[in-house]
Amino acid sequence: MNKVKIAVFASGSGSNFAALAEACKAERIPAEIVLMVTDKPDAFVSERANEIGIPIAAIRPRDFETKKAYEQAVLEALQEAQVEWLILAGYMRLIGPVLLEAYPERIINIHPSLLPSFPGKDAIGQAVAAGVKVTGVTVHLVDEGMDTGPILAQRAVDVIDGDAERTALAIHAVEHELYTTTLQNLFKK
Ligand code: GRF
Repeated sequence: MNKVKIAVFASGSGSNFAALAEACKAERIPAEIVLMVTDKPDAFVSERANEIGIPIAAIRPRDFETKKAYEQAVLEALQEAQVEWLILAGYMRLIGPVLLEAYPERIINIHPSLLPSFPGKDAIGQAVAAGVKVTGVTVHLVDEGMDTGPILAQRAVDVIDGDAERTALAIHAVEHELYTTTLQNLFKK
């Protein structure tokens, strides 16, 4: 099997990263995570990557004068590891021109709502505050906007009793499955 070399970008707990790492290891996704890129070296996702044995590129934007210089440093790490696709999983930054131009239509994101509803931060909180009964998960290609690229897959999830925490648990479970099946289909082509 020809494995696609991917980097997962994450800033937080990394439950999607762990689910993808598991799916790659079990060969449910024909890909290899060659790098975990984080802008937050202390985030829990780094512990997970260490445990699994996936190399980490921890690069802090504040160590650079511009976003361009930050992304160039990230790009160097990606090229060094021969990364072919970027998989965003709770990476809390907008991707800029340096990475968009280096990976045209090869950057994917997962977002916890049915886009175009509730883009941006705290999508689950936004859905609960809006009083909708159904929200969901979207996997999409990344463009220069905030959660705006072409949609690859979506799945609906019920809002549970107007409770953001319980809804988040249901959403995360769906995310782990939907990200896996979407990448499976994309990379087997
Ligand atoms: C997920 O809900 C993802 O959709 C969003 O950020 C969250 C990351 O969660 N972009 P985790 O770090 O993978 O647990």
